[in-house]
Amino acid sequence: MNEDDLWKNKCEEVWNAPAPGIQDPCDVPMEAYDPLIHTVSEKAACNRMLFWSKTKDIVHQFTDAKKCLLTLEDTLLGFVMDGLTWCSKKGSNESFTTGCPGWLDCEKNPVRSFWNRASTAFAESACGNVTVMLNGSLDTPFNPNSIFASIEVKKFSSPKMRALNVVLVTRRNDTTNCENSSLQTLRGILDPNLTYSCKEVQRSRILDCISDPDRPCGDCW
Ligand code: APR
Repeated sequence: MNEDDLWKNKCEEVWNAPAPGIQDPCDVPMEAYDPLIHTVSEKAACNRMLFWSKTKDIVHQFTDAKKCLLTLEDTLLGFVMDGLTWCSKKGSNESFTTGCPGWLDCEKNPVRSFWNRASTAFAESACGNVTVMLNGSLDTPFNPNSIFASIEVKKFSSPKMRALNVVLVTRRNDTTNCENSSLQTLRGILDPNLTYSCKEVQRSRILDCISDPDRPCGDCW
């Protein structure tokens, strides 16, 4: 089978995977996506996985420009679903893209449950040296309510994974640094066999690196 046929088969398989059906759009558990996640499981990119919290724009600018690291949204499923809204509605077997509950309207909405499930799978596959970009312009860069804190960190485990390297993206005059108490919390809840590091990096430095195609990834921080 050639590469095109392989992709076509894969897409059909994904399309036909059971999806949450006729139900209350505020009552979709993340387990509803188990079949979809199992259908599309990708080989983990050891030493190249990039997690993030409140840094979405710069993280994706970075992975678009430099191919050394990959986020969940750079995997097939994450890429396809990023930015989409969908839901079922009670009493209908159609899928809707409007009039769906928002992220905060209810916890078990289909979009949020999907990202919780996909993030669980991505973090479970974490291996080797893992990077996370956190936002140093916030008082609490490691926020307990985030997907990164409430789901992903809990799935990180040695010996498959070796280290978590925090890149704290800062702007001039920011007061948050690697000593921040939320980052101490992160360090404290991490599997003790994982090596932890944290580095403050100016946002402008990362942006300069992104816009210079000749600069290798390793030079960005
Ligand atoms: N309203 C709308 N969307 C939200 C909200 C909200 N209040 N909170 C989160 N989201 C959605 C948005 O799409 C946002 O870009 O979740 C995304 C991530 O939210 P953040 O708070 O920035 O970060 P976090 O919750 O830690 O999730 C990022 O999860 O997607 C995975 O692997 C990925 O490591 C990454 C992590």
